[in-house]
Amino acid sequence: MARSRSALRSFLVDCEKALAERDARGLRRELTPLDSVAGPLVRVGGATCVNWSSNDYLGLSQHPRLAHAASEAAHRWGVGARASRLLSGSTQIHADLERALAAWFRAPAALVFSSGYLANLGVLGSLAGPGDMIFLDRLCHASLVEASRLSRATLRVFSHNDAQQLATLLRRTPVRGRRIVVTEGVFSMDGDCAPVRELVAVAERHNALVYLDDAHGAFVRGKTGRGSPEEAKVPADRLVYMATLGKALGCQGGFVVGPQSLIDWITNQAKAFIYATALAVPVAAAAREALLVLQQEPRHRLALQRNTRRLRSHLSRLKISALGSSLARSSSPIAPVRLGGAARALAAARYLRKQGIWCPAVRPPTVPQGTSRLRISVTAAHTLEQVDDLARALQMVLSMTPGGA
Ligand SMILES: Cc1ncc(COP(=O)(O)O)c(C=O)c1O
Repeated sequence: MARSRSALRSFLVDCEKALAERDARGLRRELTPLDSVAGPLVRVGGATCVNWSSNDYLGLSQHPRLAHAASEAAHRWGVGARASRLLSGSTQIHADLERALAAWFRAPAALVFSSGYLANLGVLGSLAGPGDMIFLDRLCHASLVEASRLSRATLRVFSHNDAQQLATLLRRTPVRGRRIVVTEGVFSMDGDCAPVRELVAVAERHNALVYLDDAHGAFVRGKTGRGSPEEAKVPADRLVYMATLGKALGCQGGFVVGPQSLIDWITNQAKAFIYATALAVPVAAAAREALLVLQQEPRHRLALQRNTRRLRSHLSRLKISALGSSLARSSSPIAPVRLGGAARALAAARYLRKQGIWCPAVRPPTVPQGTSRLRISVTAAHTLEQVDDLARALQMVLSMTPGGA
């Protein structure tokens, strides 16, 4: 007993030392609980700020219809789902949500996970195993990197959005087992978009399948909000499509859509699905309602498009588009303002907070060394005036913290 206590004590000493080192390098992470949220406004540390760091792109997380659907489901079904999906955690609400997601993405079937992170672990782990190969874009999200590693497939990384390099890699790799190209519709920290059409064409030429994580593109991109494949005019049946309910739909959870036999296989195979408590029923009910709101109230997408255009025009005026990412041309609501070192990004975030702007710095390891940034995400709930205020504040930040954006 005494020995195990001292083992824990020595581990804690190691933790404190490592945390102090991170602190010194401006890389320590801390939680900042919000006091309240009202649309794009948050109350934090006694001050009201405009929030520019939310993924609630369509502003649906506080929509009265979603709140009503969640509260009704909580009263009818309870808050927690009580069990995993394969035991007693599956309800008609989950089944209805899955039918609605499949219909929305014009796929035969869908499967919902408790989070997008778990969906990536579960789906990629069901598609690939030892003897297979995964080709991953260099800037893929941590959950995709983790899922690829856990699958025990051989991993190859291709340069960001480089379809040519992917083609070369595929050509040079001996065909053994399954080959899977993994990328994102919209890259979460850069806001740029994958060349989905080109990547699918390259993959098909080399008999590889494409797994697309469209966490930040689903319900936002494309003529009708059907995401990055719609934007790229690629039919749903040419790839395996995954996205989340926790961003543009304002809820929580992840999902995959595809052929029935694929969904049946994942249901039987994905540990992150089989061994996890089902998505909470109120959240599933709210997500189902969000899909209806999306179809019945186009004003949310229109407001997002209007705000995105305004933000991007400010950013290109401020020459923030000259950062190597195609900000001015991209249609996504995410815009990185790269500031280089962590200290500069922290100072910028502190300054913005004093101006009533909430936009925490994003630092390594979330982004590569030397590319710490403010990751701005605009939503339908912002006003044009708030977008203009943000642009003025960013101009100040760039002039006060020299070093080139
Ligand atoms: C590209 C990408 N994939 C997956 C996820 C994980 O989704 P969730 O937040 O629903 O777990 C995220 C969230 O940050 C993401 O940005």
